[in-house]
Amino acid sequence: MIDIHCHILHGIDDGANDLAESLAMARYAYQDGICHIIATPHLNIHYNNTRAYVQNKTAILQKAFDQNNIKITLHPGCEVQLKSKQTLYRQVEQNEFCFLGPDARYVLLEQRWTDYDPETPEIVAWLLARGITPIIPHPERHVFFRKQPELINQLVNAGAWTQVSVDSLLGNNSQEALDYANHLIAANHVHTLATDAHNIKRKPSLAIGYEYISDRAGKARAAEINARCYGVISSKPN
Ligand SMILES: [Fe+2]
Repeated sequence: MIDIHCHILHGIDDGANDLAESLAMARYAYQDGICHIIATPHLNIHYNNTRAYVQNKTAILQKAFDQNNIKITLHPGCEVQLKSKQTLYRQVEQNEFCFLGPDARYVLLEQRWTDYDPETPEIVAWLLARGITPIIPHPERHVFFRKQPELINQLVNAGAWTQVSVDSLLGNNSQEALDYANHLIAANHVHTLATDAHNIKRKPSLAIGYEYISDRAGKARAAEINARCYGVISSKPN
């Protein structure tokens, strides 16, 4: 399996604290059946994890995996929080952050926690016109998406993808998040599944999430989601 959203790089956001924690997360992930991890540190008002910095940190941690015989391939990425349309357009045009995958084809684009950005449909259209698919992390955790499901429907119908977090399926976020995640599964609006792991408590557990999807929506759906996640790191167009 591949985890497309994980805060495994240590000391650069609220994810792993130190190398030991990054390695513990990686060992846990490997045991779970994860062979690829896209490292997605935050890029928001608190953390400025720009492209070259994340690429360098990813290469350093990959070396540590290799030295410790942990057979996981790390890929540089980023969880970009939407600040404003202007900021995002500049970040994209100036290549300021790491897209997910080898080419500029996917961005993990997080909403603010406080309020929905009403310009999101326009932003999604702008990205798609450039061949970039926005992946919206954990919509089930945002109150405004739960209260107004039409917001996600509009973005998905336009071509955006969602990423549901395994913790939400386990009920670790809230009952509301679990209920909305179930709704997304029923509506076939779960495009990708990831851990959003931050440490060894908020851990990189993915297999149980695929089992959950499989139980609720069938094995074929789980396989489809897994294949779509692998597609993110392939260089073939979607
Ligand atoms: Fe995250």
